[in-house]
Amino acid sequence: MFSTTTTTTTSNKPHNSTSNNKPRIVILGTGWGGYTLANRLDKNKFDVRVISPANHFLFTPLLPGTAVGTLEFRAIQEPVRTIRGLGEYYQAKARTLDTTSKTITCQDIFKKELFDIQYDFLIIATGNKTNTFNIEGIDSHEGKSVLFLKHLYHARQIRNRILECFERASNPNISVSERQRLLSFIVVGGGPTSCEFTTELYDFIHEDVSKWYPDLKDEIKLTLVEAGSGLLGSFHQSLSEYYLKKLQTRNVDVRLKTAVTGVCDQQFDNTELPFGMMVWSAGLAPVKFVQGSGLSLHKGRIEVDEYLRVPDSKGRIFALGDNAIVNSGELPPTASVAEQQAYYISDCFNNYYYKSIIDNENNDNENNDGTELPLPGMVYMNRGAMAGMGFGGGVMDLTKSDLPVPKITTSGLAAFLQWRSVYLTKQLSYTNMILIPMYWFKQIVFGRDISRF
Ligand code: FAD
Ligand code: NAI
Repeated sequence: MFSTTTTTTTSNKPHNSTSNNKPRIVILGTGWGGYTLANRLDKNKFDVRVISPANHFLFTPLLPGTAVGTLEFRAIQEPVRTIRGLGEYYQAKARTLDTTSKTITCQDIFKKELFDIQYDFLIIATGNKTNTFNIEGIDSHEGKSVLFLKHLYHARQIRNRILECFERASNPNISVSERQRLLSFIVVGGGPTSCEFTTELYDFIHEDVSKWYPDLKDEIKLTLVEAGSGLLGSFHQSLSEYYLKKLQTRNVDVRLKTAVTGVCDQQFDNTELPFGMMVWSAGLAPVKFVQGSGLSLHKGRIEVDEYLRVPDSKGRIFALGDNAIVNSGELPPTASVAEQQAYYISDCFNNYYYKSIIDNENNDNENNDGTELPLPGMVYMNRGAMAGMGFGGGVMDLTKSDLPVPKITTSGLAAFLQWRSVYLTKQLSYTNMILIPMYWFKQIVFGRDISRF
């Protein structure tokens, strides 16, 4: 039978006020995978419940710009509550999974209390977290001078820290060495997150800081550190080289083949780089829930078959996006993959599984593993890759694209215009489709905001 009740472990208040006879789908996460899926599932057929510590969807491609004020935070998020027909949403983290009783234990983000939610079907879309590789000093400085760039609150932390560095450096009682340290910004990792953020920070420094903090501008240092031999490893080599050259001509100190091995409070010799802020985006790692889920993992990601089903879950558990790996393959952890997988799973549930569930209700045997489903497996379509480069620049790589387009690379203004127009048209609400160009216009005409909140 379908789940209709939710039990709580620490409170008498039921977390489930609705009681219906629809199969319950519990979705973990409100990112590209989870939010898209929750939006698309047919709420007339399913009782859709969402659990996530973020009560919004985040449009990650535009996140680096918000960290310096090119865009405002509210313009790149969509509240979960606006999903029409959603059964329930709980602002909480999934903590443990019991596949026998089909129960997820969650922890709310406010009082840290635990509660249980039962599922008929579970979809895991918790994404990944930033990987620190257990490098000494990263965790202890994180949230202060070392910051990540993954969630909206990270962008807010970065923006405040940058402005804190400039305000402190402007104080009359500051020593020269302390001022130089505060004005040194280090970005770690040469992947697209770091590259896009570095160019946004460069624009902010040259367009706004130089206007409002003219005495400081000549002392600012911007360094990008990458352990490998090039930037943007997943892009065509010509674009990686182009990006590197552009950063170098803008006086960004790019240090290739250089790995950060620790963060400490003292400088001992020239192997340490003093900094006022370090932005760390050196790769991805599984979130705690996935790591402790007991499900089979490959490279820290949940193994799924071509239908995105978790093996041995009797077709009850699905995983998609960054936290999933299909047939041990190598689909990249990108928004495009997560979104396409969400489209695929929602279509399967709406059009096929629902009927199959109803037919098999009394056998409790729907969509068993190993069952040949009369469905095609998920096929990923590569739509190319793009990376922004601040105002007026960008790179676009269509060399591996499955779209019927010339297999070319583009850079400069043409790529920038494509990048902005693609991400503008991909917005999920008219509100943001209107707000985003307004903020872009405001930035061009009036500059970025430099207040600390
Ligand atoms: P996410 O979008 O990360 O969502 C995970 C969700 O799970 C979040 O809501 C999170 O709060 C929630 N969650 C975490 N832990 C738990 C838990 N224990 N219980 C419940 N919920 C939990 N990709 C592109 O294709 N193009 C781009 O231009 C691009 N730009 C990017 C820019 C930046 C700055 C970043 C950081 C990433 C970018 N990406 C881009 C990558 C893309 O954002 C990810 O691949 C995509 O977000 C993955 O989607 P997802 O749903 O798997 O995970
Ligand atoms: P990434 O994994 O792509 O890059 C991390 C980089 O950090 C690597 O180049 C690695 O060599 C380097 N690194 C690791 N340890 C280091 C150390 N100790 N010192 C110095 N360098 C170190 O990570 P990123 O950029 O966060 O991207 C994650 C995923 O999100 C990727 O799949 C990417 O494709 C996707 N993404 C896509 C974007 C786009 O298409 N525009 C934008 C941002 C992210």
